[in-house]
Amino acid sequence: MKKVRVFAPASIANLGCGFDIMGLALDEVGDILEMTASEGDGITITNKTSVPLPENVEDNVITPVIRKFFEMTGLSGHIDVTICQKIYPGSGIGSSAASSAAAAYGMNELYDCPLSDEEMVICAMEGENLASGGYHADNAAPALLGGIILIRGYEPLDMIQLPIPGNFYCAVVHPEIVVSTKAARSILPKAVPMHDAISQWGNVGGLVAGLYSGNIGLVGRAMKDAVAEPYRKQFIPGFDELREKILATGSMAMNISGSGPSVFSLSDKREIAHKAGKIMKDHFSAHGINCDVYVVKVTNKGAKLLAHEVL
Ligand code: HSE
Repeated sequence: MKKVRVFAPASIANLGCGFDIMGLALDEVGDILEMTASEGDGITITNKTSVPLPENVEDNVITPVIRKFFEMTGLSGHIDVTICQKIYPGSGIGSSAASSAAAAYGMNELYDCPLSDEEMVICAMEGENLASGGYHADNAAPALLGGIILIRGYEPLDMIQLPIPGNFYCAVVHPEIVVSTKAARSILPKAVPMHDAISQWGNVGGLVAGLYSGNIGLVGRAMKDAVAEPYRKQFIPGFDELREKILATGSMAMNISGSGPSVFSLSDKREIAHKAGKIMKDHFSAHGINCDVYVVKVTNKGAKLLAHEVL
């Protein structure tokens, strides 16, 4: 028997213009799983946190990740999972991706690392599909690999790790309202008008160029979303008004984090990020909504092994 304790971080997906193709890892918060492999087959999952999660093992995102790992490797075993720390589901900071990424990483560690980074992301995407009804890796890839990831293509999976400018601070606010990714995806139109597509791909190019050149002003200018935000901002009380207040602090951008309801701002100074975080908190309080605020410097850390033992 072998046991591992693994961590995978929260993440911000989309980064404004990169719907389903860009995301970054947040260092401060994430999921912790303990996973034990023994002989036999089957999956058991115990939730030791106070966060409510599905009781049926088939409804937990961890299960399809484990199954995909066994399918891809031809290996087998009984896997016992204990969820020790959990990001609140529906928060918009990659809760399902953190569990999925931790499960994929943990499985790989338990079985002496047969899978490549790309293959682990493919496993983690099974969890994302269960949670949201779609195979997207813009949370799962940064949760596994850390940093800022561009998914250039899905067939086959082609991921590019983008540089993180030295002065890249995010304030992320998670208001205590739940917006399921499934619901936030189901309201999006199936087609994008040419005018919006032109604006979107111009911005994706600008964002990538800004990251490579370390031009935070360009990054902020490019973080505009014509595809999802116009439909999703209705779930976030006072979204437009909040953005005006945040931009007035000198922040370069404010966007929905993933499918929401979390929002994040970007700035090149920690003080400005703190100021933006406070304004976001006050904004939601004024709407009677509690929230958690994180001010983070984006780093390259992704999923990691915290402990392991052979039993
Ligand atoms: N790209 C996904 C979406 C991320 O926006 O639906 C979900 O967190």
